[in-house]
Amino acid sequence: MKFPPLQSKQKILLLKAAFFGQFFSYLLIKVITHQKNKHMIDLTTKFLGLTLRNPLIVGSCGLTDSVEKIKEIEQAGAGAVVLKSLFEEEIISEMEEAMHRMTSRAFIYPETFDYMDEGEDEDSVRKYLRLIEETKSAVNIPVIASINCVSAQKWTYFAKEIQNAGADALELNLFILPTDFERSAEDNEKLYFEIVEEVQKQVTIPILLKISYYASNLGQMIQKLSNTGIGGITLFNRFYSPDFNLETYQVTSSNVLSKPTDLSVSLRWIAVMADRVNCDLAASTGVHDGDALIKQILAGANAVQVVSALYKHGPKYIGQMLEDMKKWMEHEGYNKLDDFRGKMSQARSSNPAAYERVQFMKNFRHFIFE
Ligand SMILES: Cc1cc2nc3c(=O)[nH]c(=O)nc-3n(C[C@H](O)[C@H](O)[C@H](O)COP(=O)(O)O)c2cc1C
Repeated sequence: MKFPPLQSKQKILLLKAAFFGQFFSYLLIKVITHQKNKHMIDLTTKFLGLTLRNPLIVGSCGLTDSVEKIKEIEQAGAGAVVLKSLFEEEIISEMEEAMHRMTSRAFIYPETFDYMDEGEDEDSVRKYLRLIEETKSAVNIPVIASINCVSAQKWTYFAKEIQNAGADALELNLFILPTDFERSAEDNEKLYFEIVEEVQKQVTIPILLKISYYASNLGQMIQKLSNTGIGGITLFNRFYSPDFNLETYQVTSSNVLSKPTDLSVSLRWIAVMADRVNCDLAASTGVHDGDALIKQILAGANAVQVVSALYKHGPKYIGQMLEDMKKWMEHEGYNKLDDFRGKMSQARSSNPAAYERVQFMKNFRHFIFE
């Protein structure tokens, strides 16, 4: 079949049609891949051997002390929760009370010990176990129990009860403030290892250590702790900070909630320790928005705990933070967290000194307040 020769106008039209055709197919492909990528964003993360649907964990606090609140947190999209802490002192006091009740009776078979509280008011320790059981049957996200402890004595048997109640993991909030002048730095640090050793004798569920930055050689200490077989370390816990009331001369507590600027301490240490530990790392303190969540993953965190931001904005804010993270991932072309996890860690950084002294000199020497 022969076509009549084309006139120049027709040739131009044909060329234009071909160009626009190509342009529109290019656009179509872009839109389709964008939609596909959008659909493919995967926030799942492995943490303590558990699979979390996303890395945002609601940290231990008053928002995680009831089944109803935790159901709401699950609905809002969190990857896991850490229950409000039970204090070592509560466990010991309950144990001592039970022992007292037992020894004050004429004779009692040891088995009776298990049933002693029947008919009596439920104590905080039993309430805690019931909270674990009921939460586990009410939600699908992992439930991490929490004990606030300062010693390796007496209470550690209770870790087994927590495991038996169904907790997926146990966070130990080691609240050791180095203000005891009788104890050396070595004494304090030894305590961490003793507590881990004693709790490990009791449980097979993963142990997560929540520590502070009060250690004489923090980097080495975190590294050594990571070699004890624990599942992970949370950096860092937050102390209530004292303040003074100038009228009443009383010591008050201030800064109960963190501020976004508090992020830098945990961010630095996650970045410094990522790739240098034999366990997972959870970031905690100062994570107030989606950007901070992203930064902690870039630093190398396996999971990120959030508390103050949820006190301020309510649990629904979890959805917003995750959505912002997804949008950023889409924009950057990442499909999963491992595509960028640890990209900014010190070990992988092209400028490791950025986390250390030289940056301080650069920023502060020539600092001009505008
Ligand atoms: C009101 C309140 C109660 C808290 N209770 C606990 C607790 O029982 N156990 C614990 O380990 N941490 C507790 N924390 C500390 C938080 O888990 C978290 O480590 C700290 O607030 C820093 O995180 P954020 O900056 O996201 O708030 C509490 C924090 C707040 C604000």
